[in-house]
Amino acid sequence: MIEIRHLYKMFGESRVINDLDLTVRAGETKVVIGRSGVGKSVLLKCINGILKPDYGSIRVEGREVTGLNEKEYNKIRMEIGMVFQGGALFDSMTIEENVAFVLNEFMDLSPREVRIKVEECLAMVGLHGMEHFSPSDLSGGMKKRVSIARVLCMEPKMIFYDEPTDEVDPVTGDTIDNLIIKLRDQLNVTSIVVTHDMSSAYKVADSIAMLYHGRLIADGTPDEIRNSKHPVVQQFINGKADGPIADEEALLVGNGRMIE
Ligand SMILES: Nc1ncnc2c1ncn2[C@@H]1O[C@H](COP(=O)(O)OP(=O)(O)OP(=O)(O)O)[C@@H](O)[C@H]1O
Ligand SMILES: [Mg+2]
Repeated sequence: MIEIRHLYKMFGESRVINDLDLTVRAGETKVVIGRSGVGKSVLLKCINGILKPDYGSIRVEGREVTGLNEKEYNKIRMEIGMVFQGGALFDSMTIEENVAFVLNEFMDLSPREVRIKVEECLAMVGLHGMEHFSPSDLSGGMKKRVSIARVLCMEPKMIFYDEPTDEVDPVTGDTIDNLIIKLRDQLNVTSIVVTHDMSSAYKVADSIAMLYHGRLIADGTPDEIRNSKHPVVQQFINGKADGPIADEEALLVGNGRMIE
C-alpha cells in the first residue's frame, strides 16, 4: 500500500530523514516507534504531502506521489485520514461541526446526509449523542476519539495516527487501542501508528518499525522486536536510561555538538 525508498528530509543542516526505506502492506497496522524528535511526525507529513521530501520515492498504491502538485495530492489526501498529534480540533466549533467540517468542505452532501454521517462516525468511536458539546467540555481521550471520527467520515483507505495514546491515562489509552484494532478489522483500513507507548505498540501492531538517526534500524512483528538483539532497540523498548543511546549523547556533548 505504501512503499518508501531512499527518503531524505532536511531542515537546515539537520538530516531528519536520512535514507529511509519503509513498506506498509495493505490492511496492516504498522507502528513506528522512536525517540522524541527522531522524525516520526515528519515521516507521516512527508507521506501525506504536508511536507515535501528532499529526495527519494514514496509510492501510495503503486503511484509515485513525491512529484504531485497540490491539486493532485488532494485526491491522495482524501484516502489518507490523519489523526494529528494533539487532535487539532477547532475549539470554537461543536463536536458535530468539527466532524462535519471536511464533509462540508470536500463532499457534495445534503445537510441531512452530513448529519447522519456524523452520527454514524461518532457512534463508531463511542461518542453517540455528544454532537452539541464543545471540545473544551471533553476529556483528552474523548477529543482523540472525535479526531478519529472526523477522519472516519471521509471513509479513508489509510489512517495515520500520530501519538494516539499521548496524554491519556492507561485505561483510556487501551480504549483507543481497541478502537484502532476495531477499525482495522471492520473497515480493513491500512494504518500507521506513531507512538512511544510500547504497551500500545505491542497491542495494535501487525509490525513495528523503529526509527533512529533518520532511518529504520528494525522492522518486524511485535515478537521479533521484543527479541531484537539490537542494543538501541533493546534500550528503547525497555525504557532504560543507560545504553548506547545515552552513550552516544554523552559523546556528542563531549564533542561540543548540539543535541536535543
Ligand atoms: N517544519 C519544520 N521546520 C523545521 N524543523 C522541523 C520542522 N518539523 C520538524 N522539524 C524538526 O525535525 C525533527 C523531527 O521532528 P518530529 O516532529 O518529526 O519528531 P517526532 O519524532 O515526531 O517527535 P515527538 O515524539 O516529540 O512527537 C525535530 O528536530 C524538529 O525540530
Ligand atoms: Mg511527533
